[in-house]
Amino acid sequence: MYIDTHAHLNYPEKYGDLSALLGELAECGVRTVIDVGWNLESSLLAAQQAEQNPPLFFAAGFHPSNLGDFRPGDDARIARLLSRPKCVAVGEIGLDYHYSGTDESAQRRAFAAQLELADAAGLPVIIHSRDAAEDTLRLLQDNRARLAAGGVMHCFSGSPEMAKAYLKLGLFLSFAGPVTFKNARRLDEVAKLVPADRLLAETDSPYLAPEPLRGSLNTPKNLPLVYRKLAELRGEPLELLAQQIAKNAAALFLKLVP
Ligand code: NI
Repeated sequence: MYIDTHAHLNYPEKYGDLSALLGELAECGVRTVIDVGWNLESSLLAAQQAEQNPPLFFAAGFHPSNLGDFRPGDDARIARLLSRPKCVAVGEIGLDYHYSGTDESAQRRAFAAQLELADAAGLPVIIHSRDAAEDTLRLLQDNRARLAAGGVMHCFSGSPEMAKAYLKLGLFLSFAGPVTFKNARRLDEVAKLVPADRLLAETDSPYLAPEPLRGSLNTPKNLPLVYRKLAELRGEPLELLAQQIAKNAAALFLKLVP
């Protein structure tokens, strides 16, 4: 049974009504999906979807590229969502310096504030980092005390050195479609070095569909392709890898049914 620790099913323009998709997920062996918010509205929708559909859990938070959506009081609104029974994490949060004109210091403030929110709620964090590896690591190191409930580097795509530094902070590393892409040699190396008890997998739907579906609309139905690639790279039987990842997901996201 597979667990998608990061997908955005809270994207009505892409998925519309979820009932057909959720039915198909069970057939593909995907038992649980964490539906991840990127601003208040998407976090509210993820909460509602999770509360209506047993396989779904949710995370609430502001993505660094969506801080423009932030309105006064949204931090308190997110904090209220965190106490809902199906909320398993704060996310996705982090740093993204990819686009020019990015207010990097505003991103760092929002990231630190949400680490604090997670710590106060006793929840782990789901961390996004793009073109901001050094700052992400430094901020996490400086806020180590806020990571008591742990966290995951989602869709990890950094270097082996960065992977080791995050592992040293106690974080999990999660792999998505990019690990299946051709020319992912550096990522192959990382996927092999992660200790079995720190490994997670995800689709990051609707983005980053794995090979051989690259470029199409991604859904959690494609999660087995990521698992298969990880099992192949690590030389582990798929079944054992799936059991280990289920155990890891339950260890980090405590409210997931193991
Ligand atoms: Ni995401």
